[in-house]
Amino acid sequence: MCGIVAYVGNKEAYPIILKGLKRLEYRGYDSAGVALLNQKEILLYKKKGKVSKLEDYAADKEKQSTIGIGHTRWATHGPPNDVNAHPHLSGDGRYVIIHNGIIENYDSLKKELINRGHEFKSDTDTEVLVHLIEDICQNESLSLEDAVRTALNEVVGAYAIVVMDRETPDQLIAAKNSSPLVIGVGDEDFYLASDATPIIEYTKNVVYLEDGQIAVLKKGEEIKLSNIQNQTVTPYIQELEMNLEAIEKGGYEHFMLKEIYEQPQSIRNSTLGRLNLKNSLITLGGIEEFESKFLNANRIIFVACGTSWHSALVGEYMIEDVARIPVEVEYASEFRYRNPIINEKDIVIAISQSGETADTLAALEIAKKKGATIYGICNVVGSSIARATDAGSYTHAGPEIGVASTKAFTAQITILALMALSLANKKGSIAKSRYHNLLSQLNQIPELVEKALETNDQVKYIADLYQNAKNFLYLGRGYNFPVALEGALKLKEISYIHAEGYPAAEMKHGPIALIDEEMPVVAIATRKGSYEKVVSNIQEVKARDGKIIAIVTEGDTTVREMADHVIEIPETDEFLDPLITVIPLQLLSYHVAVMRDCNVDQPRNLAKSVTVE
Ligand code: M6R
Repeated sequence: MCGIVAYVGNKEAYPIILKGLKRLEYRGYDSAGVALLNQKEILLYKKKGKVSKLEDYAADKEKQSTIGIGHTRWATHGPPNDVNAHPHLSGDGRYVIIHNGIIENYDSLKKELINRGHEFKSDTDTEVLVHLIEDICQNESLSLEDAVRTALNEVVGAYAIVVMDRETPDQLIAAKNSSPLVIGVGDEDFYLASDATPIIEYTKNVVYLEDGQIAVLKKGEEIKLSNIQNQTVTPYIQELEMNLEAIEKGGYEHFMLKEIYEQPQSIRNSTLGRLNLKNSLITLGGIEEFESKFLNANRIIFVACGTSWHSALVGEYMIEDVARIPVEVEYASEFRYRNPIINEKDIVIAISQSGETADTLAALEIAKKKGATIYGICNVVGSSIARATDAGSYTHAGPEIGVASTKAFTAQITILALMALSLANKKGSIAKSRYHNLLSQLNQIPELVEKALETNDQVKYIADLYQNAKNFLYLGRGYNFPVALEGALKLKEISYIHAEGYPAAEMKHGPIALIDEEMPVVAIATRKGSYEKVVSNIQEVKARDGKIIAIVTEGDTTVREMADHVIEIPETDEFLDPLITVIPLQLLSYHVAVMRDCNVDQPRNLAKSVTVE
C-alpha cells in the first residue's frame, strides 16, 4: 500500500510531487507528506488525511526546491496521524525517507538501535529504517548508497524506498523489494513513483526497478543501477504505452462512474486482436505458447483476491462447462499458507487488476516452486505478477483508478471467456455450432453492455428508495452466483452497508432467517438454466415480506408479477451473462454510495492495491 513520488532535476519539485500524490491517492489516503531540500535545509510538511489537507497546510510555506520526496499513506504500523505520516527523518535530521511496504523485523532492529542511543518519534517501521541507514553511515563511514545497501541486507520485508540526503542536494537513492517502483527518465532529471501515472506527462521513458535493485539518480547524469549484492545492472529503459486522458476523470463526477461507462470499450479492447469472428479464431498469446501444457493439465487453479477472486469463480464455471478441465478457485491468502498439493501438471493462474497484490504474488511463487506452470491475467502492464509468470494475458482495460473494481472485473471475465472457448475448441470439447455462436455473442457484448447502462436512471431511482437500508442480500445461481458476491462486495465497500451474496438456493439454509420487510434482496433472475428455481427463491422471499429488486431478461413477465422492482437487461447466452448482469449492480452500489455521501473513489480503510499482507 501507500503511494510514493519523488523528483530530482531542474524543475520545481513540489508541484510535480503534489500532482503525483493526488494521482496515487487511490493507494492510501490516511496521511500525506513531502520533504524538499532548500539550501541544505530539509523542509518537511506532513498532515493526517488526504493530499488536499497537505496542500492547504503547505500553501503558505517555503517550498522552493528542485529535489523532493512525497508520500500518501495507508496505515500499517501506527495510527494515521501527523507524526506517523511520511517522510521520516533520521535522528540527526540529515537523511529523509519515504517507504511503501512493511519492514517485518522492525521491532528487533528498533530495540538494537534504541540500545545504541537512537530515539524514535513515530510508531512506524519506516523510521527504524532511516535510523538504521544513518547508524550505518556514521559508524561504518559508508556512502549513502552503500549504507542503504547494507541496511537493506539486514531488513526482512517488502519495500519501495527513496532516500534523500541534506548534504547531497542533487541525488536520490531508490530501492525496491516486492513493492513497485518506476523511474521516469527525463532529459536531465528523474521522476520516481509507485506507478507510472505521476510520470506520464513528463516522460514516456521508464525503468521498472526489479526486486533487490538499488538506483542512484543524480541530476544530469545517467541512471546508476546495481543490486543488493553490489553488482552493476544495466538499466532497461522502456516506453510507456499509457496516455494522460486515460488517467483523468473526463467530465465524470467520479472515476468509478467513468470506469463503469468505459466498459463497452474496455471489453472491446480485451478482445481486440484476439477474437477473429470471420475465421472463428481466438488468439491468446500465452495459451498458444503453452498449448500442450493446458490441454494436458490435471487441473487449473485460480489464485486471486476480492473482485478478481469473483471473476475467477466465473472462470471456473466457464472452463469446466466448455473445456472440461477441472478447475479450483483459491483465495490467494489461504493458498499461500496451507501447503497446497501442486505438481508440474497443474496450471496456476493468478488474476489481479493491479498485478501487485501481495497475497496473489506470494501464492504464485509457491506454485512456481512446486513446479506448476504459472499464468497471469493482469491489467497493469509490467506489474510484479505479470513479470513473475511464465505467460499471461493482459486485460487491456486501461487504468482503473476507483478503488471499487468495475471495468477490471468485466475485462477479466472477457479474457476468461476467450480462454475457455479457445481451450474448448482446441480440445474438441465444444460443439462447433455452440463455439461459433458463443464467439459471435461475445463479439456483441459491448453493445449489450451499452444497453444495460441505459438502466442507470431506473437504478438511481431504486437506490434512492433503499439508500438507508441496514442490510442487503444478493442472490444468484450458476454463472450469476459470483455476480451476486460481486454486487454485495461493491455495495459494502463503497456505501458501508452490510451486504451478503449467496447462491440463491442456499438462502433457505440460514440467511432466510434475516428476511423481513426491511430487507432488500437483489435477485439475479435472467431467463437461463436455473431461472425457475430462482423464481421459487424469489417467492420464498416475498412470502416473508422481503423487498425484491430483480435483474431480469428483457420482456420477462413472470418475475415482474412478484418483484417490487424489475431491472430489464438484454439477453445473452448464460455463459456470458455475468458481463451484463453485473452492470446494474455496479450502478446500484455507485448511486447508493453517492446518496449516502460516501467517498466513492476512495472508501474508508481501503486502498486500490493491497501490497501488504
Ligand atoms: O489488484 P487485484 O485485482 O489483485 O486486487 C484484488 C482486490 O484487492 C480487489 O479486487 C478489491 O477487492 C477491490 N477493492 C474490489 O472492488
